[in-house]
Order: sequence, then structure tokens, then C-alpha cells
Amino acid sequence: MFDNGTVDRPDKGDELPSGSSLLRGQYLIEEYLVRGGFGITYLARDSLDRRYVIKECFPGALCCRVKGDIQPLSAEVADKYLSIRRHFVREARRLAKLDHPNIVKVHQVFEENNSAYMAMEAVNGEDLLSIIDTAPARLTPPVVVKALRDALIAIRYIHELGILHRDISPDNFLLGENNHLTLIDFGAAREQAGKENRALSALLAVKDGYSPHEFYLTDMLQDASSDLYSLGATFYHLITGEAPPNSQDRVVAVASGQPDPYKPLDGGDWAYDRRILASIDRALELLARDRIATAAEWLDLLNQFAATTMPDVVIEEGDLTRVISRLVEDTNQHVHQGMPGDAAQQQSKRKRRRGRMVDEAQDEGPKQLVDIFGNPVPDIDAWMREHSDGKSPKRMHLMPKKRAKAAAEPEPDTAEHEAEAAQGGGGLSLNRLISACLPGRKTQSQTILQNVRNQT
Ligand SMILES: Nc1ncnc2c1ncn2[C@@H]1O[C@H](COP(=O)(O)OP(=O)(O)OP(=O)(O)O)[C@@H](O)[C@H]1O
Ligand SMILES: [Mg+2]
Repeated sequence: MFDNGTVDRPDKGDELPSGSSLLRGQYLIEEYLVRGGFGITYLARDSLDRRYVIKECFPGALCCRVKGDIQPLSAEVADKYLSIRRHFVREARRLAKLDHPNIVKVHQVFEENNSAYMAMEAVNGEDLLSIIDTAPARLTPPVVVKALRDALIAIRYIHELGILHRDISPDNFLLGENNHLTLIDFGAAREQAGKENRALSALLAVKDGYSPHEFYLTDMLQDASSDLYSLGATFYHLITGEAPPNSQDRVVAVASGQPDPYKPLDGGDWAYDRRILASIDRALELLARDRIATAAEWLDLLNQFAATTMPDVVIEEGDLTRVISRLVEDTNQHVHQGMPGDAAQQQSKRKRRRGRMVDEAQDEGPKQLVDIFGNPVPDIDAWMREHSDGKSPKRMHLMPKKRAKAAAEPEPDTAEHEAEAAQGGGGLSLNRLISACLPGRKTQSQTILQNVRNQT
């Protein structure tokens, strides 16, 4: 085990070298990750070989490392350095109390080397800034909208506890498996009510493009809408590939009678619901009073948008499940259970089933379908066109006579299609039906579909 003060440091930088130990050997630094204005981040392992990320309080403008210990650069900044360290420990302790799936978990906070440390879970994910740079194709509209929702849920949680993050930006969100979003880097966070350390906060966390103009000033009110401005800027960057203009430049332009250099998203050629784009524009209003005020309000808006892309009637999940169950039952009378098998077999079975279904439908005369509200659907194709939001209509198992020939043709094969066919044939059409009825609510509709499948 190394002693931090005596290890060779080939780069002579301020970072702790690999192999350094912390907390009497409880943590071993594996590698230096990155250095920000406020701290140095390392990958570490504990004595049980578990991975952690450790953040060291290191406000580089005020201090340096001498033989392992952190020292203020001068007597004048010594108080400031100590104040930052106290702030770091206080915030780390507060963060350690947070328990939310979209917020990084802090395991331990301790002081050593005349500095302070925070040991956090090592989140398996990549920060959004890196993804924008290296894999932007991953950021499809559904992924981005889900990330916005997850971010708002996390921010609502901390705001309700009276904490402002104050450093919301693409590099402080990690996107992991299944596009799970985690908010990190609470180094600049502080209680909304506290006036203490305001100058300090300004020093710590001003990020051009993401910070609202009140973050550049020490005497202006900062509230929930300030974090939401930064969140708006983050998603502006995800959508357009660029951060919005610096809020200071915007203020200067507007104050001098020039147009605001901010280009609104709404009205631009982006593949998103315009109302979502408009909500981001609203979060990015220069004046706090014009912005979306709370994360809860923004989430409500997103929910309203999702709800109003549905047909006009609001239905309870239970009712939907009952109607779909009836439809499944009805459909299953005409479908013979299929067993998983090779694709060709499945396809020919599907063809045969379709033929038989059509025959049966013809034998029995026209079958009356109902929509998810129980209303009769005389022309299923017309219904699907009406509800498929401009996308090509999907075929149903039961359909009018004139469509029989087309129905006997195989549809393009996809893994999903085969899997659905192997489950008995009813699921595919229902899945599409539900998706068509509830665009933007796929998760819920899939859950409902699963319930339906469990019941049938
Ligand atoms: N818990 C974690 N799990 C995985 N990676 C992390 C974690 N914490 C930080 N990182 C990685 O390290 C980078 C920097 O961490 P962080 O954002 O906490 O500090 P910073 O921005 O460099 O410093 P500052 O606090 O000065 O702003 C992140 O963008 C992320 O890639
Ligand atoms: Mg950061």
C-alpha cells in the first residue's frame, strides 16, 4: 500500500496517483478520471473489491497538492478554501441522504489529506455530453423525451427537499443500460433557502450556455426555475447539437434593444412534438417569471401532451384492460395456438391461420369489432388510418371481406412479429392497436398488454 505523500507522481499533477489509499486502506485509487473546477474524480475499489467513484474536493483555483496534502495557494484564499471544503462536506452529507433511482448514491463522506472526499456508486453509463459527441444516433426522440421525463422526476425530488442542483448540464447526466438516466455532480448544490455561500456558489458553478443569468450574479434570487433553465439548455443541446447562447449575452442583447440571440426550438424542423419543444423554450426564458416554475409543472405538461395525443376520451386502465380482454377473447376464437418453431414454419402457419380466420370470418358473416371504448368499428382500415397518426395503417386479424386477399399475404418478418406469432397470433394486432390508440404511452400500453396476455 502506498503512502499518498511518498508516491512517485510521474505527471507531477495535482491528481492522486493510481495505488493511493484513502481512509486507512479502505479505498484504493485505481485511476484518475477527470478534473473539474471544483473537484477531482477517480475510479476506486474498496477492500471488498467493489468499484466506487471518489470525488475529492479540489477547487483548483484556490489550492494545490503538496506531498499528498491539499494546501491553499495563499493565506488570502485560505478561508475561502476552508469554506468550500465545509460546503463540500455538508452537501455530500445531504446527498448521502437522498434515495432516488435517478440520482447517484453517495456511500461515504470523509476528510483526509487536508481535503474532503465523497465515495459514490460507480454508475455504469456514459455522460450525455460524450454521447452527443461520439454516438448522437443513440439520442432518438423517444430516448430524449424519456430522459427529459426522468430528469424532471429527479429534479422534482431534490427541489421538494429544498435542494437546488445548480450545475445541470449534459455532462452531469449519465445514460446507462436501458437508457436509465442518473443525475450526478452535486458539488455546486445548495439549499434553496440558504443565502450563505452565494458568492461561493457563483464561483463554483457557472457554465456558459447552461447557467441562467441569475447564476452570474450574487444578489439575485435563484429558485427551481433556475435549475429548469439549465435543464432546458441541456435538452436544447441534445436536440440541436449545440448549447443555447450564453444567458449573459442574451441579457446584453435584449438590454441594448437587439433581438435575443436565442433561436426557439418551436417552429424549427425538429422531429419532436411541438408542445415539448415549446416547453423547453419556456424553460429557457430569460426572466424567471416567464419560465416554467417547477419540475412538477413541467411533468404535468408532459403528461397532458401524452394524454392529448390519445383519442379525446380519458379512460381508466381497468376499462381499457376489460375492453381489450373482450377483444382478445373474441379474436382468439378464430386463432389456433401456435408453438414456437422455425421462422418458415411459423410464417406458413401464420398464412394458414390467416386464411382460416378469413374463411371463418366469411362463414360467420361480418364480425363486429369494437374500439377500446366499446364503440362499433364498421371499417377497421378507416379506423386504423384515423388513429395511426399518419403512419401506415396496420391490418387486423378480423377484417371485411374485400380485404381478405390482402390479409392472406405475409407481412414483413421481424423478430417482434415472429415472437408475437409464436404466442398465438392475437398479440401482434393488439399491440399495434394499443400503440395506435395510445401513441406516446407505449410503456403503459405494453404493461396493459402484458396483463391482458396473463389473463388470456
Ligand atoms: N458516480 C459516477 N459514476 C460514474 N461516472 C461518474 C460518476 N461521477 C462522475 N463520473 C464521471 O466523471 C465525470 C466528472 O464527474 P463530476 O461531474 O462529478 O465532476 P466534474 O464536473 O469534473 O467536477 P466539478 O464538480 O468541478 O464540476 C462525469 O461527467 C462522469 O463521466
Ligand atoms: Mg460535472
